[in-house]
Amino acid sequence: MVKTVYLGITGDIIHPGIINIISEGAKLGELTIGLLTDSAIVSHKRLPYLTYEQRRQVVENIKGVAKVVPQEDWSYVPNLRKYRPDIMIHGDDWKTNYLSKIREECFEVMKEWGGEIVEIPYTKGINSTALAENASTIGTTPDIRRATLRRLIAAKPVVRILEAHSGLSGLIAEHAQITKEDGIHQFDGMWSSSLTDSTSKGKPDIEAVDLTTRLQSLTDILECTTKPIIYDGDTGGIPEHFVFTVRTLERNGVSAVIIEDKKGLKKNSLFGTEAKQVLATEEEFCEKISAGKRAQVTKDFMIIARIEEIIAGYSVDEAIKKAFAAVRAGADGIMIHSKDKSGMDIKKFCQKFRAEYKNIPIVLVPTTYNQFTESELGEWGANIIIYANHMLRASYPAMRRCAEKILEAERSLEVNDMCMPIKEILELIPGTK
Ligand code: SPV
Ligand code: MG
Repeated sequence: MVKTVYLGITGDIIHPGIINIISEGAKLGELTIGLLTDSAIVSHKRLPYLTYEQRRQVVENIKGVAKVVPQEDWSYVPNLRKYRPDIMIHGDDWKTNYLSKIREECFEVMKEWGGEIVEIPYTKGINSTALAENASTIGTTPDIRRATLRRLIAAKPVVRILEAHSGLSGLIAEHAQITKEDGIHQFDGMWSSSLTDSTSKGKPDIEAVDLTTRLQSLTDILECTTKPIIYDGDTGGIPEHFVFTVRTLERNGVSAVIIEDKKGLKKNSLFGTEAKQVLATEEEFCEKISAGKRAQVTKDFMIIARIEEIIAGYSVDEAIKKAFAAVRAGADGIMIHSKDKSGMDIKKFCQKFRAEYKNIPIVLVPTTYNQFTESELGEWGANIIIYANHMLRASYPAMRRCAEKILEAERSLEVNDMCMPIKEILELIPGTK
């Protein structure tokens, strides 16, 4: 009897190591590939470049593959129990890497029906994670980048976005990562903030920096990153102008624009002013959203309606009413904002919104109520969390301290420890030799 063999893979970048393990598996019997779904992968690694469908098409055409089934979980265990293969195969590198715990579980589970695990010697000098890192230095295309945000929302409980206002801060959002017990943690994308864009140009956050100017730093970010970008569109201006903003952002590969329901002179929402911001009426706001939706060319681009009622001192119910109207006008998501430290109005909004709309994404910017973790906010119903200004706020005090220290010492020896070594800065840009 031909034995059944199971191999779980991501299948994003096919390299000789993968071909080797597939052909070794096929020698042992009828090989089923458990192809990890986007959500299985993003629970522990970055989103693959190819969609599940694209990866399936590639993998099912590799010699030796009898069939491809989805593996919905990061661990092989649920699929092993489902398919009860005679043999599971895996590269032997999992003895020592972050999969070692899962390896032990697989050995236990395979015993349940007398299956065995065959470990294939790992092909040295090549692995998917390193190749993916190299691929990110090549870049991406506007179409692929733009579509990534919707894929992430579908695949992750909470999408984690970091503010970027320059190529350098974009590089941090792209590459910063830490390893925790459950895998690698990274940011999923970037927020092009009006506050940090204007502040870094020495201007107030009052829509004084126009799209063309903001596009310059956005282009720097686009050039050195591959992750999706959400653009802070302020009020969006008048509908006749907003349609051009939508097209420009879309053409550049930006995934979403967020526009807020303010009118007149826009002030930053966190600014402690007594003067109440004038809000656009439901009709005015909805007209702008609809005009934007009609103008967009792709189905991937998202227009997200930012509801400022709570900031402006109105009730959660009034915020909900405006949000529902925005969704009916075509908004692909809602951002609800508040500067209340308790976060309770946000929680209440999320609950009320979720009671009506189960799947419309909710975006939160927890700058003031930052005592809550991503998973807590996710439980409230949030899909996207934006860390809206932290790269700028972290860098400015560091630069000022350094400048003051040089003034004090009348030389730069004393700031050596505050500064990264010249050698490191020369090698900072990925791909620099
Ligand atoms: C920004 O980052 O520019 C925002 C978010 O609009 S906030 O500053 O909180 O208003
Ligand atoms: Mg802003």
